[in-house]
Amino acid sequence: MNQAIDLMHSPGPVEEGKPADDFRAFRRALGQFATGVTVIATSAGDEIVGMAANSFSTVSLEPPLVLWSIRKESKSLPAFLNNGHFSINVLGENQMEISGLFGRPQPDQFGQAKWNVGSHGDPLLEGAIAHFECVTESVIDGGDHHILVGRVERFARFDGAPLLFAQGQYGVPVAHPDAIPASASASVKDGQESEESLFLSLVKATDQHMSALFQEHRQELGVTVATGRILNRLSQGPCAADTLELETFLGESALEDALTELAQKGQVVQLPDGEWDLTDNGREVRGALRRSAEQFTIEQLRGIPATDLATAERVLGTLLGRGGTDR
Ligand SMILES: Cc1cc2nc3c(=O)[nH]c(=O)nc-3n(C[C@H](O)[C@H](O)[C@H](O)COP(=O)(O)O)c2cc1C
Repeated sequence: MNQAIDLMHSPGPVEEGKPADDFRAFRRALGQFATGVTVIATSAGDEIVGMAANSFSTVSLEPPLVLWSIRKESKSLPAFLNNGHFSINVLGENQMEISGLFGRPQPDQFGQAKWNVGSHGDPLLEGAIAHFECVTESVIDGGDHHILVGRVERFARFDGAPLLFAQGQYGVPVAHPDAIPASASASVKDGQESEESLFLSLVKATDQHMSALFQEHRQELGVTVATGRILNRLSQGPCAADTLELETFLGESALEDALTELAQKGQVVQLPDGEWDLTDNGREVRGALRRSAEQFTIEQLRGIPATDLATAERVLGTLLGRGGTDR
């Protein structure tokens, strides 16, 4: 009996317990809470430090207070504690690479990003959808983190949608699929201008619908979105965890969890040089996943005339070609 399917129909939790007994499971439960992503930075003289942080939260409007938490082991901690000010850059949906750049220690991070200087000299990243320039109001001890409460002196908001982070993975905001066609078609019916055309809404809703349907096929093979991405990437050849993290767009903890799960199932193995590779078993599962995807596509497209499909492919291809960088 496939445990994943069994659990899907069960009203009980997938995993539960005390945090101390299984910190990875605890971390996965925390990851069920979706957040945005920020880069928080501070500078003093020539030294500029910054890091990706999704612990950002609003606290109070009057006075204007926000908070975030920083790991006590972070190399940047002394700068944040000493400088007494920091900038918060809320990342836009196109800034996943920026999050990756600041989400792990790397040399010359600010040399690789475009930014302007804020009022305390703190960097304000270009492309961010909001900036908050803060002075440190208080520092609260929070276990293995310090909680920094900031008083916002200045803010700026820009057009754009936020980058999201949930279940250890990046995402982009889309309206709930049940809401999209209804609102779009209602505004078309009323003859009012809809913010987004029915066509674009349908494209988004179709993508979400198809992904949800394919999820069941993945589960039949005991594969998750995260393990599926790793199996796909490793089918091109062995690679290091760093590269996997970048190329599968999984956060550090989601990648670690997925690699542990795959290794326990005997589908991946770590080579003596540290790189990860597929085992024969992993290659089989990956092959089955690909066949399942092909079969799924055939089933979904059954009954649609070839000329309609060709038109749809042409239209979608044209739209993709127009994607450009400035959305
Ligand atoms: C999406 C995302 C969110 C993160 N959120 C936090 C956070 O809230 N607090 C934290 O201390 N580290 C967080 N990190 C990890 C830091 O960005 C990372 O450890 C960084 O390299 C710290 O830099 P430093 O050790 O050079 O100071 C996050 C990383 C990512 C990718």
